[in-house]
Amino acid sequence: MSADLAKLNAARAALDFIKDGMVVGLGTGSTSAHFVRLLGERVREGLRVKGVPTSEATKQLAEQVGVPLLEISQVTSIDVDVDGADEIDPAFRLVKGGGGALLREKIVAAASKEMVTIADETKWVDTLGAFPLPVEVTRFGFNLTLERVHQVMRDTGCAGDKVVLRVAGKSNEPVITDGGNYVLDAHAERLCDPEAIAFALSQIPGVVEHGLFIGLSRTVILGKAKGAEVKRL
Ligand code: 5RP
Repeated sequence: MSADLAKLNAARAALDFIKDGMVVGLGTGSTSAHFVRLLGERVREGLRVKGVPTSEATKQLAEQVGVPLLEISQVTSIDVDVDGADEIDPAFRLVKGGGGALLREKIVAAASKEMVTIADETKWVDTLGAFPLPVEVTRFGFNLTLERVHQVMRDTGCAGDKVVLRVAGKSNEPVITDGGNYVLDAHAERLCDPEAIAFALSQIPGVVEHGLFIGLSRTVILGKAKGAEVKRL
């Protein structure tokens, strides 16, 4: 099965949640990009919505496909946020941030009446953690913060405790987020207690945000080769 087709099918099913006049959070990543392009088609057909992008990349795409946008500073409430995920467990806890947009994604999700998570069905897992947990950190003192994230992995009984600075490109330069920060990837292998890890990470000075989204999404759309399955918590 093509993962991209499944992502497209999930994105298409999310259009059912969009009504005329809504303010819509626009997620980041390849699945969200499908949704933004489909939303652009609907806008060209006459749908009136305003989008709130969660990254500079999504902002650029939304502008290209003609989705009218609002600045986050113009927004007090968002009707529905549609965003992807790297992992989703049966309690609808998410790991996000594979694309490094976790901070803006979480701000937009938390400001939304509803977060609709769209993903291909391979993202549905029994236990979170096979996908490394992204943690956005300040550049200042990142090596000290990394040590403390490492300690949290050990203290909370994760199967793995390797934590690495995310780098990219031929020269392995650190990835810089839209907010000007670094991203650490915590290779936990298995997150036994996501709530405890989320709390402990949020207590570390230098951690700007972590990629555990807990209690934010009650609707998950899993795209398949044919169609999509809508799950509600
Ligand atoms: C970006 C994210 C993405 O939603 C997540 O990485 C999923 O990406 P994709 O839709 O490309 O599989 O959290 O920060």
